[in-house]
Amino acid sequence: MNLKYIDFRQENGVAWIQFNRPDKLNALNPNVLKELETALVRCEEDHIIRVIVLMGHERAFIAGTDIEHMSKGDINSAYDLTDLVLRVHERLSDLSKPTIAAISGYALGGGLELALCCDLRISAENAVFGFPEITLGIIPGGGGTQRLPRLVGIGPATELIFLGEMINADKAKQIGLINKIVPLGSLKSEVQACASKLKERPALGLRAAKNAMRRGLGIPLKEGLQMEQSLFCMLFGTEDQKEGMSAFLEKRKPVYKGK
Ligand code: COA
Repeated sequence: MNLKYIDFRQENGVAWIQFNRPDKLNALNPNVLKELETALVRCEEDHIIRVIVLMGHERAFIAGTDIEHMSKGDINSAYDLTDLVLRVHERLSDLSKPTIAAISGYALGGGLELALCCDLRISAENAVFGFPEITLGIIPGGGGTQRLPRLVGIGPATELIFLGEMINADKAKQIGLINKIVPLGSLKSEVQACASKLKERPALGLRAAKNAMRRGLGIPLKEGLQMEQSLFCMLFGTEDQKEGMSAFLEKRKPVYKGK
């Protein structure tokens, strides 16, 4: 992969996608988003990769979509940009593998939207979250008004999106926006530890659980329950279900193969 704005590396089944535009606090423009799309395609297709981590640098995860780029925009270019954003976000949120946002520094606007597409958000103590779009005369355009209320509820989401103010990691944890706060110096090792645990879990089970929860949010409860039932029963056809239950009965640790 020929990437300029993203560093991509795969280590022991974990793909680390690091945004690398530090002089602009990793602000997202079409070039960065297209590179992210390329990296995500690789993550889906490469069977060695089991967990995907998105990260920035100490000062910023991502400080939003590039305002300089947007400042020159019109209605047509706004459609072009958001078509790309929505396509990349869908690819990220629909990945069949678990994803973790490792957040330090600013996670604003489009950056927070990307974090919302991840399954888990682990944050350093210095993280700052917000949707400043309203202060620029716009609203979040990459899923912020949709994914945020679904995650934290309409009350906290309205406050963040209406006021456009930033909140710290403690407040973000309190409203359920992030899963965990860790010291900045241990962000990587904590994320690594979480990824290692996920790698030990049965991959088809994780995929089924992700599917059930994500698709379930958008459909009536009755249909969601039926979908869950189908996925639950499907897992009884896997080797990992046999292994998991045998291991319990034999009082040993299961070894899953993702089959
Ligand atoms: N788009 C484009 N450039 C951005 C950016 C963004 N979203 N966020 C930061 N940058 C750039 C700044 O313009 C600056 O570039 P320069 O050095 O060439 O002037 C550089 O990143 C560093 O940012 P700076 O503002 O100097 O850092 P700071 O520590 O004083 O402030 C923020 C940090 C995040 C509070 C501030 O940069 C900010 O408010 N950014 C915009 C956040 C936003 O509104 N995001 C949502 C967009 S929809």
